Amino acid sequence: MESPFVEVAKADEISPGKFIRVEVARKPYIIARVDDRFYAVEDNCSHEDYPLSYGCLDGNRIKCSLHGSRFSLETGAPEDEPADEPIRTYRLELCEGRLWLDPSPDISG
Ligand code: FES
Repeated sequence: MESPFVEVAKADEISPGKFIRVEVARKPYIIARVDDRFYAVEDNCSHEDYPLSYGCLDGNRIKCSLHGSRFSLETGAPEDEPADEPIRTYRLELCEGRLWLDPSPDISG
């Protein structure tokens, strides 16, 4: 079976505390770095379809710039109102300095 992973970035393109926006099959994702850990989430707020890439990181959360909800980069869970639904998270592998995204939603939580 073919690997679902797609190369999306080099790890050293993303500084700690920053993220980049990438597209795979025309769908946008956020690849974020917190210290030396990397996360992948959808680039879409669950409150109103609005790009989370307009927002910023707050520790290991991403904050929506429209109404301020913050979402865990690990689980996708909202931590503030008004959002009450999680965002999707994705598996991301780091291999030899390159980041590989599995664009199927991570159902393991
Ligand atoms: S659109 Fe993101 S919190 Fe409202």
